[in-house]
Amino acid sequence: MFYIRFEVHFLLKTIYKYSKLFSQLFGRGFCYRGINSMNMNCNFEEALKLRRSYYVIGRDISVPDGVIKGILERALTYVPSAFNSQTTRLVLLLGKAHTCLWQMVKDVLREQISSDVFMKSARKIDTSFAAGYGSVLFWEDMAAVEALQAAYPLYADRFPVWAQHTSAMHQFVVWTMLERVGLGASLQHYNPLIDDRVRAEWQLPATWQLIAQMPFGKPLREPGKKEILPLDTRLKIFR
Ligand SMILES: Cc1cc2nc3c(=O)[nH]c(=O)nc-3n(C[C@H](O)[C@H](O)[C@H](O)COP(=O)(O)O)c2cc1C
Repeated sequence: MFYIRFEVHFLLKTIYKYSKLFSQLFGRGFCYRGINSMNMNCNFEEALKLRRSYYVIGRDISVPDGVIKGILERALTYVPSAFNSQTTRLVLLLGKAHTCLWQMVKDVLREQISSDVFMKSARKIDTSFAAGYGSVLFWEDMAAVEALQAAYPLYADRFPVWAQHTSAMHQFVVWTMLERVGLGASLQHYNPLIDDRVRAEWQLPATWQLIAQMPFGKPLREPGKKEILPLDTRLKIFR
């Protein structure tokens, strides 16, 4: 009897002693960005640290399309914009539409650059972007921007700049949230070369200006180490 009591006491003491460590490990377990891991339990700071550019991606993902749609809906709902103007428009391309986008990029590039450079670009497009599951296109509705310029002439020259800012905020949020559910994404800029063809293909309004493209998919290779410039040259604090 004494022996069993001693064992239970020892077990409880050990659990108590290591409970903090267990909880830390458990928390990090979800947040560690191993390939294929789901990062659903990450807090904001951890999600911020885990966002990277993923250039080797695949199509075989287990995240339902509804989750991806939900991420875009939440970005559109909660990301701020100047004067609450909500000028950002998002397009989600999946399946054939995603393949069609990257074929279109290659077609446009083939017309613009030498065949040597094109071969290199085409290889990158095939392995890093087209190989993914989908792409998010970030647009700004210039009709909405122009309406703001007319309504607030004092800030007329600021609204196009603020439209870029709000787009960037949407990009960052979508990028981080995609990675939080275990996907890998990168940010690309084949605009304005492709704008007209993309608008025509999906019959998008002529007033939408393409700002960025974000291919995403199953992360197949962890990004390399990133150099961080010294913070003391980039952050100043005064009291
Ligand atoms: C405003 C902006 C524009 C970028 N444009 C491109 C781009 O056109 N093509 C690309 O491959 N990466 C692009 N990137 C990704 C950066 O190269 C990348 O974020 C940076 O090297 C840091 O690496 P990380 O994303 O892994 O943290 C862009 C990033 C930002 C913030």
